[in-house]
Amino acid sequence: MAKTPKESLTILTDIVLPGESNPLGNLFGGELLARMDRACSIAARRHSHSIVVTASVNHVAFNNAIPVGSVVTIEAKISRAFKSSMEIYVDVWIEDRESQVRSKVNEGIYTFVAVDKSGKPITVPQLEPETKLEKDRYEGALRRKQLSLILSGKMNPADADELRALFVG
Ligand SMILES: CC(C)(COP(=O)(O)OP(=O)(O)OC[C@H]1O[C@@H](n2cnc3c(N)ncnc32)[C@H](O)[C@@H]1OP(=O)(O)O)[C@@H](O)C(=O)NCCC(=O)NCCS
Repeated sequence: MAKTPKESLTILTDIVLPGESNPLGNLFGGELLARMDRACSIAARRHSHSIVVTASVNHVAFNNAIPVGSVVTIEAKISRAFKSSMEIYVDVWIEDRESQVRSKVNEGIYTFVAVDKSGKPITVPQLEPETKLEKDRYEGALRRKQLSLILSGKMNPADADELRALFVG
């Protein structure tokens, strides 16, 4: 049975400690990637009810630095399910200490694959997006999957119909 993105929604809130920062006093990129990966893996597990592994980090934009002491909230949700793979969008927010107003600082797109106990890919439930943003992300997911497969040498660009349609009228 198909599932909705909100069923996989995963929210992790944590603080940035000095030991997790670079010489400029901002969160290490690798530490943020690990936190994002953790949130995505929980979202993928919630969607598939199975063991999941990271297949690819498709995109990460470090748009803004995150200073030590920041309260960081990471929100991950499935944006599309294919056969055994799932695309997960992850949005990163920080909140102002006094006003508590949140601002989005970074985002990423991960691919996870559901596997059985021997590590073999297994089928996952399909996804039914509900909101406009969820529908937009769902719509672009096949193009991003094809791009990721091409970059990892697992797909011949000539077979990437959906991606090619972006460039050819
Ligand atoms: C991810 C993994 C299970 C894929 O196994 P595989 O034998 O290549 O299996 P397949 O070719 O059938 O691929 C499985 C799915 O992953 C997708 N996939 C594989 N590599 C991908 C990539 N780089 N980008 C996007 N999707 C990818 C395939 O398109 C397929 O999707 P679908 O079933 O939804 O159509 C396998 O490579 C693996 O176990 N990798 C290690 C994972 C891991 O340990 N991660 C943590 C790193 S420390």
